[in-house]
Amino acid sequence: MNVLVIGAGGREHALTWKIKQSSKCNDLYVAPGNAGTAAIASNLNIGVNDFELLGQAVIEKKIDLVIVGPEEPLVRGIRNYFASHDQLRGVLMVGPDQVGAQLEGSKDFSKDFMVRNGVPTAGSLTVSKDNLVEGIEFLKKVEAPYVLKADGLAAGKGVIITSDINEAESTLKEMLDGQFGAASQKVLIEEYLHGIELSVFVLTDGKSYMTLPEAKDYKRIGEGDTGPNTGGMGAVSPVAFADDAFMARVDEKVIQPTVRGLQSDGIDFIGFLFIGLMNVDGEPVVIEYNVRMGDPETEVVLPRISSDFLSHLAAAAKRELGEETLQIVDETATTVVAVAEGYPGSYEKGRVMTGLDQHFEGVVFHAGTKLEGQDTVTNGGRVLASTGMGPDIQTALNQSYANLKSIDWPGINFRKDIGQDLLNL
Ligand code: AMP
Ligand code: GLY
Repeated sequence: MNVLVIGAGGREHALTWKIKQSSKCNDLYVAPGNAGTAAIASNLNIGVNDFELLGQAVIEKKIDLVIVGPEEPLVRGIRNYFASHDQLRGVLMVGPDQVGAQLEGSKDFSKDFMVRNGVPTAGSLTVSKDNLVEGIEFLKKVEAPYVLKADGLAAGKGVIITSDINEAESTLKEMLDGQFGAASQKVLIEEYLHGIELSVFVLTDGKSYMTLPEAKDYKRIGEGDTGPNTGGMGAVSPVAFADDAFMARVDEKVIQPTVRGLQSDGIDFIGFLFIGLMNVDGEPVVIEYNVRMGDPETEVVLPRISSDFLSHLAAAAKRELGEETLQIVDETATTVVAVAEGYPGSYEKGRVMTGLDQHFEGVVFHAGTKLEGQDTVTNGGRVLASTGMGPDIQTALNQSYANLKSIDWPGINFRKDIGQDLLNL
């Protein structure tokens, strides 16, 4: 089977790495990829939203299966584009259509979906300029802290949490005035959930589903969870508090009603559902859906899967997922993300990296990297994700950090405390 992975991050390197292990994999392409994917597959220099060129490449390279990594091409309708073309219609794809992608692309749409289908979620009100007065009344009714969410995609920056009611009011007005452009024409005011956060991953063909290993993500730039939010600075899988009893609650209360809801709403969903949820006193409450895998969670989820992941992906795309059996390794995986100086603020690209061509324990996944002549240089904010694995979290962390000791570039930065909160649980 010839496969194309769309995307350029650590998630896509991990997907490519896992797919390559399958005996069913023939030619493997990544668009646009990074220096890490170039070493194990063929990179195609095509952007993730350039549907026309992606479609041409799929025809030319005789690609059978397309895996869409990031959300943007899904929200822009890459599946619909393929479905509308005679030569592309038969190509298998993992990734939902434009309606399904609204589960991530519009927080108002996904909230409505959850409420309608009985999926537990925080109480909320959607506010636009037309009902601003009602919005301000709602803020006064709910308890601090106040959670304000831009309805649309805002590059991970669209959620603002404050304990100050005056700041909440002024932020609400600023958001509606276009702080995040069209993405904040509507804003959700949401009740604050107190609990521990967990990322749950489901692969579904719209009828059957497979629950992949869960993970915890470290979102803030600074140690001790301080400073601004990032795309993710590290991840761990499994997560101690997500024991069998809790995951059974997640299955019954969240995953089953979600998949039933897709069917009853007539949403034809083939792809990943990444469910961000809070464990509130032992009960799962959904914070958000994403319609793709998480990054850097993928870098700890996939190394724990021992069954043929390409086979699962192809079966999902053919709506035959019910025939597949997932196998998980009973080990812990950790990943530590090394970032550019200045990230998540402004940062420079093009810094020459050293220490990459040696033997690593675990896997060093590339995120923002590219080849420049003989050199590998930084090409993004999150540059590498160093994944370690072992019988316990400490062994895995030792590998993740040992790899980073010998890698360098000017301004390299990473958190030293990934997984520390889970060590003694
Ligand atoms: P999101 O972009 O929806 O993932 O939100 C970003 C982060 O804000 C989440 O990962 C949570 O840590 C936090 N968050 C979002 N909604 C809530 C909520 N209702 N209560 C508490 N924390 C929240
Ligand atoms: N790590 C969080 C995300 O991928 O959205």
